[in-house]
Amino acid sequence: MADYDVIVIGAGPGGYVAAIRCAQLGFKTACVDNWINEKGQAALGGTCLNVGCIPSKALLESSHHYYALQHEFKDHGIKVKGCSIDLAKMMERKNHIVASLTGGVSMLFAKNKVTWIKGHAKLLSNSVVEVENPNQPGEKNQLNAANIIIATGSKSAGIKLAPFDGERIVDSTGALSFDEVPKRLGIIGAGIIGLEMGSVWHRLGAKTVILNRGDNFLKTVDRQIADAALKEFQTQGLDIRLGAKLKEVNQQSDSIRLVYEDAKGQASVEVDKLLIATGRKPNTAKLNADAVGLHINQRGFIEVDQECRTNLQGIYAIGDCVRGPMLAHKASDEGMAVAERIAGQSPEIDFTKVPWVIYTSPEIAWVGRTSEQLKDRGIQFNTGVFPFLANGRSLALGSNKGMVKLLSDAASDQILGVHIFGPYASELIAEAVVAMEFTASAEDLARTIHAHPTLSESLHEAALAADGRAIHI
Ligand code: FAD
Ligand code: NAI
Repeated sequence: MADYDVIVIGAGPGGYVAAIRCAQLGFKTACVDNWINEKGQAALGGTCLNVGCIPSKALLESSHHYYALQHEFKDHGIKVKGCSIDLAKMMERKNHIVASLTGGVSMLFAKNKVTWIKGHAKLLSNSVVEVENPNQPGEKNQLNAANIIIATGSKSAGIKLAPFDGERIVDSTGALSFDEVPKRLGIIGAGIIGLEMGSVWHRLGAKTVILNRGDNFLKTVDRQIADAALKEFQTQGLDIRLGAKLKEVNQQSDSIRLVYEDAKGQASVEVDKLLIATGRKPNTAKLNADAVGLHINQRGFIEVDQECRTNLQGIYAIGDCVRGPMLAHKASDEGMAVAERIAGQSPEIDFTKVPWVIYTSPEIAWVGRTSEQLKDRGIQFNTGVFPFLANGRSLALGSNKGMVKLLSDAASDQILGVHIFGPYASELIAEAVVAMEFTASAEDLARTIHAHPTLSESLHEAALAADGRAIHI
């Protein structure tokens, strides 16, 4: 008899959600994970809870308060004197949030009777997994199950010119734990991590320069939104240099000199700490994939079909280690869907409706197609844009930058994409996702009553604007 019905490898938002859903569906489930946290303890939650989504948002919130106190409170008639940072306390708060959430996952495992197995897992066949005991290196245990879900996630890709040293040259994990605010922070890559972590340290006082190889700022974001965001971030003081190809990274005794080339020629900049944020790569090298014949592509991603099935019978793969966006909610959705498929159900995931959020200030959020993608596909569409400047709640909040942009099919009026740069875009985008899941038209949103005064009225007005009848602009 098999030890388990399902073994999940990896306990990030893909793996732990898959394991809980499997248990809910009545499967005897184990989840193997090799994460060791800063204290040297095993912890559930993977990248997202330990060194990703959660700690970064905790620091974004703290740093935003500090920035607002210095730059925004005066507009409210509130005078602040002698405000300073206690970075150790800020980090302690962040660590506490992480600990409460990772501990919460272990309670969810206990409640759902998911067996947590600590250690590194590798495949011995399509039904046998070998786990190495982290406390007794060399001691190995074999477990079998009819179904295996691989959810081993990803790690920072890094660049050859500047290998991580954990001190001065760091990845996002290092940049979440600096023990003092760097005077000058260099970041390679103006993507999501570069912008979020750059925002944190810039707000806390680091002179921050971001070098990005490509000219196209946030190339997957709707151009109008990306252009507005770039202008705003530069106004805030983030020094974003586009088309900057890194040529040399020279370590000096107490600084790092970055030599790069852009359209104007060769230039250099001195920094104290360097964050490399040039993308992430899948964690699949140590799975024993070749030996068991599991197909992995040239970039290290496990090959799967639309339903997350690998080429091996009974083995599925989900989350950051397979194709598609590297996002926690995408991983979790795939985890639930795979569990339900094993149970004989027929869930579907529509990758065109995965929301994206960049937690800058203001935030950027989007779902569906951009104007550029629609033009490339030759699709005729209507555009409705509404600026937060004309929204009462935004003015009351003191956050009136940005806009909502809604794109709808010219013939059917179906909403094809919604793009937001503005306050709480992360929360506002949910309405657009639900509308698109229900194949709503712009007219459906235009005829939906939105409470006043709320930020969501901007989405309502953008829907009206798609038909040329916005009221407040
Ligand atoms: P992971 O979370 O990476 O988990 C994989 C787990 O598997 C890890 O615990 C790993 O140790 C374990 N593992 C790997 N190999 C083995 C093995 N052989 N045996 C046993 N265990 C193994 N996404 C968002 O949606 N929103 C955000 O705000 C956000 N912010 C982020 C901020 C940062 C700084 C970073 C780095 C990422 C962020 N992400 C965010 C991305 C998000 O963290 C990932 O998309 C998500 O964690 C992927 O989930 P996963 O379950 O596929 O993998
Ligand atoms: P990214 O793919 O978002 O951005 C990488 C950037 O680096 C790009 O702009 C690219 O042009 C640039 N770049 C690549 N190589 C370079 C080089 N050699 N020199 C200079 N620039 C270079 O990757 P990032 O920021 O590392 O994040 C990885 C992934 O993690 C994200 O794509 C996202 O999936 C996930 N994530 C999600 C978050 C969220 O949902 N809010 C937050 C943080 C990460």
